[in-house]
Amino acid sequence: MRKPLIAGNWKLNKNITESESLARALVTDLADITETDIIIAPIFTALNRVAAIVDGSSIQLAAQNCYPQETGAFTGELSPTMLKDAGCGAIIIGHSERRQLMGETNEFINLKVHATLNSEMQVILCVGETLEERENEEMLEILTAQIKGGLVNVPAEKMQNLVVAYEPVWAIGTGKTASNEQAQEAHSFIRGLIQGLYSPETAEACRILYGGSVKPDNVDGLMAQADIDGALVGGASLKVEDFCRIVKFEKAGH
Ligand code: 13P
Repeated sequence: MRKPLIAGNWKLNKNITESESLARALVTDLADITETDIIIAPIFTALNRVAAIVDGSSIQLAAQNCYPQETGAFTGELSPTMLKDAGCGAIIIGHSERRQLMGETNEFINLKVHATLNSEMQVILCVGETLEERENEEMLEILTAQIKGGLVNVPAEKMQNLVVAYEPVWAIGTGKTASNEQAQEAHSFIRGLIQGLYSPETAEACRILYGGSVKPDNVDGLMAQADIDGALVGGASLKVEDFCRIVKFEKAGH
């Protein structure tokens, strides 16, 4: 059985003080959650302060990006080890906003995946098609290229530290969620790709999160799908009540 994981990607929101108060509220409200893993990803400058707040709680800290070099002449960048030093246990890699706005390629993303895994941190590898790609029936091809490209030379034993997030670009920040069936179809396809690259056991164990307008009112239906193991939440992760309700999603059959 895969343990559910709900992650909040705060993107470019909340200054240090605001990040601290959001983290404090979450630590209090989610103190008794043990059946679901919880991650929050604040802005870089708030990481170290938020780390002190979530230390010893049910919440883990992630960074939103990294650079695939340990040290050196890379002005403005941060390595996985430095992010670990700031208190992070995970890094979000290949978010569609970085692919689209910063021109990140599958090759570059693969370097970050390796650097993060080599630092013994967890990777949240984001994939997802644009509306145009979906309408042109290129979705499966795009997902294949993103998964295969992101996982080049990643050995099976490191896959236990890697989570995939399927985030259809057309559903991010638009209020348009993929239907439960659309999301399940993509997740099942991604699991099949991982099985093809590794083994049925590795594919079975790999958590695949859905992201794109996840809200309190659609999380339960999404989480009831066989291959949806959690959520990567943007906008709703900035609101204490909404994020807590998403973390406390209702399990199917209850
Ligand atoms: P929204 O939940 O705001 O659509 O963002 C999703 C996302 O991009 C999470 O990484």
